[in-house]
Amino acid sequence: MARLRVGIILGGMSSEREVSLNSGRNVYDNLDREAYEAVPVFMDLKGNLWIIPWQLISQNTTTDISERLAGEARPIGYEDLKEEIDFAFISLHGKYGDDGCIQGLLELLGIPYTGPGVLASALGMDKHIQQSILKAEGLDVPRSHVVTIEDWRRDSRAVKNNLLTLFPPPFFVKPTREGSSVGVRAVREEGDIETALEEAFRWDLKALVEEYLDGIEFSCIVLEDEGEVRYLDVTEIHPQSDFYTYDDKYMPGRCRKFTPPKNIPPEMTSKIGEMAVRAFKALGFRSYGRIDGFVLKDGRILITDPNSSSGMAPSSFFFEQAASAGMLPSMIISRLIENALAIHRGKKGPLC
Ligand SMILES: Nc1ncnc2c1ncn2[C@@H]1O[C@H](COP(=O)(O)OP(=O)(O)O)[C@@H](O)[C@H]1O
Ligand SMILES: [Mg+2]
Repeated sequence: MARLRVGIILGGMSSEREVSLNSGRNVYDNLDREAYEAVPVFMDLKGNLWIIPWQLISQNTTTDISERLAGEARPIGYEDLKEEIDFAFISLHGKYGDDGCIQGLLELLGIPYTGPGVLASALGMDKHIQQSILKAEGLDVPRSHVVTIEDWRRDSRAVKNNLLTLFPPPFFVKPTREGSSVGVRAVREEGDIETALEEAFRWDLKALVEEYLDGIEFSCIVLEDEGEVRYLDVTEIHPQSDFYTYDDKYMPGRCRKFTPPKNIPPEMTSKIGEMAVRAFKALGFRSYGRIDGFVLKDGRILITDPNSSSGMAPSSFFFEQAASAGMLPSMIISRLIENALAIHRGKKGPLC
């Protein structure tokens, strides 16, 4: 029997394309070859797709791959994708990757894929809209305020004064729709506000300002498995920097993670898992997701950052929590694919 051709889509146009390469490479390496044929599909900086030979996957950067595309890879038009693959394992992160864009294209082409549909993927990127949905669901989220680039350019003094009234420093400023801690800044004193907002506006037209959360950070993978939504073991995070920065997330040996948690009691850990499942459902996530948050010193549990996709490097939360549940990378990847295929068979449109 012909094996299912699994297109592993990696690279992309976002600030997270190097993270995507790491995720995609790891999925490629661990895909069960008895059941599936791996087809690496590279998205370049312009959004063009290329089928790349396996030799290119081991390149260190997306720039290295890009420089070799013309000589070694095969360009394909969007419409041709359906001739090349039967299923898409989306290893893209960030803009155009897990925000509904590639999902929309795959829906038009009728190719089933990992992760949620168009709307939930977009919601997974928008930290501000997420917060209102989670609040309506009765979940605790950080106190926050949106600053638009227009307001900031029009009257920066008024914006600053307003922020200082709303949030006495320290507080956090971030692009509303980014990921991997790109553009996230801690504001410790009034003098930091301008740099933090300018950094957020490099990436987005809206900056999200949040109260400072003092506590233990956690991350929890949620899986839709044979129709049931369930959570894996929660991970407790101890960054080396003063918050969980890009380097802490991806540089080897930086951040310590405990799965299951060391300093969060088991009753609270189960509560986190249940809240993660509620957040997953409230946002309409399907297939899998990663729900992040904080346990505050006063014992409150806040959901801060639901993600409709998750990094898939070897030491990612996804594989660490799968390992804690006794699943090898190849096992959880196969399970994700089979569940995603079942979800797509039952769908009634791109928003389902
Ligand atoms: N309000 C906050 N209080 C304390 N730390 C925060 C806050 N917001 C963000 N951080 C820190 O910054 C990191 C990245 O922010 P996050 O909102 O999760 O964005 P991203 O989508 O880039 O992961 C978090 O993992 C956390 O360590
Ligand atoms: Mg986060």
